[in-house]
Amino acid sequence: MINMEKAKQKKGYLSRQEEKQIAKDSKRQVRILEKEKKRKKTLDEYTSVMQDENNLVEFDNLNTNFFTERGVVKAVNGVNFSIKKGATVGIVGESGCGKSVTAMSLMRLIQGPMGQIVDGAIRYNSRSGVVYDMAKMPMKEVYKIRGKEISMIFQEPMTSLNPVVRIGNQLDEVSKIHLKSICPKTGEEIPMTKEDAKARSIDMLGKVGIPAPAHVYSRFPHELSGGMRQRVMISMALLCDPSLIIADEPTTALDVTVQAQILELLATIRAQFGGSIMLITHDLGVIAEMTDYVIIMYAGRIIEEGTVDEIFYNPMHPYTIALHKSKPTISSEGKRLFNIPGNVPNPINMPSHCFFRSRCSHKCERGATEYPDLVQISETQKVACFRACPGSVEKKEQKLETTIEPIEETIETTATIDEAPKTTTEIEPIAIETAEKSKESITVETPKKKPATKKPATAKTTVTKKPAARKPKETE
Ligand SMILES: Nc1ncnc2c1ncn2[C@@H]1O[C@H](COP(=O)(O)OP(=O)(O)OP(=O)(O)O)[C@@H](O)[C@H]1O
Ligand code: SF4
Ligand SMILES: [Mg+2]
Repeated sequence: MINMEKAKQKKGYLSRQEEKQIAKDSKRQVRILEKEKKRKKTLDEYTSVMQDENNLVEFDNLNTNFFTERGVVKAVNGVNFSIKKGATVGIVGESGCGKSVTAMSLMRLIQGPMGQIVDGAIRYNSRSGVVYDMAKMPMKEVYKIRGKEISMIFQEPMTSLNPVVRIGNQLDEVSKIHLKSICPKTGEEIPMTKEDAKARSIDMLGKVGIPAPAHVYSRFPHELSGGMRQRVMISMALLCDPSLIIADEPTTALDVTVQAQILELLATIRAQFGGSIMLITHDLGVIAEMTDYVIIMYAGRIIEEGTVDEIFYNPMHPYTIALHKSKPTISSEGKRLFNIPGNVPNPINMPSHCFFRSRCSHKCERGATEYPDLVQISETQKVACFRACPGSVEKKEQKLETTIEPIEETIETTATIDEAPKTTTEIEPIAIETAEKSKESITVETPKKKPATKKPATAKTTVTKKPAARKPKETE
């Protein structure tokens, strides 16, 4: 098999012959994977055991690739995280980092035959108590879960709804496939009747705040506004009382006032339906308002994860810190907005070292040769950066309570970090310096939680602490 990276490095381009060889290799791999997907499997092969019974979903080393004619796109590259029962998990990252592909892998909606889950497991704790590995499950079994126990709200409702079918028929179809009615004569469960399905659809349209739901029931999608269509999508997702709702940028295609209404609706749903939500968004304000746990993705990998407080008040990865800095605030009005310089590396030709290095404002030597593993730095927070290590948080906090070193001095310390990356002092320069620099842009108007009561000895101590934006309306 041709190694595209080596071939390109040799002469700076790929010959037609090499391109043909790459396309041939891709096709061969797809054939093997498709054959495996279609193979008849026994129940044992696609059932599993949860690592933690409190989890609803566990992604375990998920690898999803697209086999293109130019090479293999590693869209999701060894992703591990879990969604607890009843929790809202936010997934953040810039365009193309693999958020949607992660969600689609769970729903088994990856565009085949080019797109394939090549490795890993996605354990789903179903209502029946059986733990399914969604990555290996036959499609026939997936249909029983998809739409019923796990449903999805897509970014653009106009492209998700069928434009030539009335809203009501599209909603009824879901109920008829997944729900049951009770036969009045025998008392037995039968597939949901037309009348029951209609009553349920109208009821659900009313619950998501659609005025005159019976009227909207008989309309076509193009007759509704964007916000109404997204409400219809949400009502469709809720029809079967799912255990998990995946919302893939549910407000991106809407204008800001409608965005606020849809977010309010999602917050109400979250409080009422008691299931879990996986919320994919670019908007840190939405994350702050809606989620309990946050996953930050970059170039197909998780680079940081933690509770919403940890990610907002104690971000560790230079990318997370830069994301906070790039968020517009009222105080940044009229000023030039911060943007992260450079681009995400080419997904076909990923480097073997830290993916973020070319854009990192704190780049380290070690990052030039190795990819940092995700390291646990507190009970709930993990970060993939050589400048973060266990114990550094406590150390930083202790230090802030006592002496505050000038920024310049701490920056100098970073020079030694590459040589001794495991020491507990190494995270300090990033956190202190960056928070100080970005204080203006990430300090926000009315944070939900107050900063910890650490009285700074000098202006520098203000740092650290609690930069969060918790008001999506202001940020939008
Ligand atoms: N059908 C496809 N064929 C080839 N590559 C694909 C395909 N779908 C997605 N990809 C690649 O997979 C990577 C991840 O895409 P994904 O859609 O998950 O990004 P995302 O984080 O959801 O971005 P966005 O915020 O723009 O929706 C990208 O590099 C993209 O180019
Ligand atoms: S590992 Fe090094 S180069 Fe990579 S993000 Fe961390 S500090 Fe930057
Ligand atoms: Mg996406």
